[in-house]
Amino acid sequence: MRDHAYFDADSGAIGELETLTSQRLDTDKVPHAVEVQASVPIYDMDALRPMLEEGQRRRALMAEWAWVLGQGPGAVVLRKAYADTAPIDRATAAFEAIIAREKAAGATGADHFATAGSNDRIWNSLQKLCLEEPETFALYFGNPVLDAICEAWLGPFYQMTAQVNLVRPGGKAQSAHRDYHLGFQSAEVAARFPAHVHALSAVMTLQGAIAHCDMPLESGPTQLLPFSQLVPGGYMAYRRPEVAAYFRDHAIQLPLKKGDALFFNPALYHAAGDNVSRDINRMANLVQVSSAFGRAMEAVDRTAMCAALYPALGRLQAARRLDAAEIHAAIAAAGEGYAFPTNLDTDPPAGGLAPESQAALMARALAEGWSNEAFGAALVAQAGKRRP
Ligand SMILES: [Fe+2]
Repeated sequence: MRDHAYFDADSGAIGELETLTSQRLDTDKVPHAVEVQASVPIYDMDALRPMLEEGQRRRALMAEWAWVLGQGPGAVVLRKAYADTAPIDRATAAFEAIIAREKAAGATGADHFATAGSNDRIWNSLQKLCLEEPETFALYFGNPVLDAICEAWLGPFYQMTAQVNLVRPGGKAQSAHRDYHLGFQSAEVAARFPAHVHALSAVMTLQGAIAHCDMPLESGPTQLLPFSQLVPGGYMAYRRPEVAAYFRDHAIQLPLKKGDALFFNPALYHAAGDNVSRDINRMANLVQVSSAFGRAMEAVDRTAMCAALYPALGRLQAARRLDAAEIHAAIAAAGEGYAFPTNLDTDPPAGGLAPESQAALMARALAEGWSNEAFGAALVAQAGKRRP
């Protein structure tokens, strides 16, 4: 057996971590950033938003983000990812109502890496928001900045999922970790996957946090260790005490404002921070976006979401409250964007190599002005054809 084919319990040694994470970001590498803090580039999306609609300039910005997330420090702050924070406030109100209702029903709100207590969690906030308040969903996820950063790391047809995390004053930090896929496996299971699959895990998802309130340092915004995604055996290492201690001593935190977003490589060592504020209920919507080619962590009923969302998108489009790029982003967050796997007997390729995806069907129906009933029937028919 070649010894580099697998990692073992000692992989991702502290010396390697130290060498990789002691580098500093060269600002020449991030010409679109407005500033760099603790090696993390910060992008002013108010200034950059117009670029997203200009093919070559959009590609240049996406290429820079992909480099930062992959070979660079592994994290970006998108300042003013929301030009208008009104959709965030509407979503916050919806999430607070969901939390109150789920608590009354006895939910515990624990997450994977923190103890339950001062922490409220909404699993699958994506589907819950879409089904309960489709118009709020459309305005919130109809955001071309989110679409661009997801496309930059994952390519098109990504699968959006989201979970709300609300940490009240006194809420404790998470332990340092990496995220889905391999970050959610024990070291024993991770060791059974060959080294090349460890490298694959990091490009199958993108992790993000949308700030629903101002998050000064005392409120505990995410702690990050820039460049730690580069440690090859890191999925084996993050639980070891000396690695956790190194993380505590060297992790950085960046304050966020409501409407800012932080995106990072899922292999970056990170952890939610301690909320030592007196009165800040730190609410973030954590978006976990999956490659079209992977399987997302959460099971999402995208057919139900498309049925709920279509009438709202039709109204917002007619009232010119969402432009074409915003409609595209909202559809990308809700519908299944990838045509496979499907039943090729009953759902053969339509004039190309792939059948029409759910997201493509919704975009076509909106463009052609189908009635809600016609779209609903087509959605059900499409789901039927795809069943094995
Ligand atoms: Fe995490």
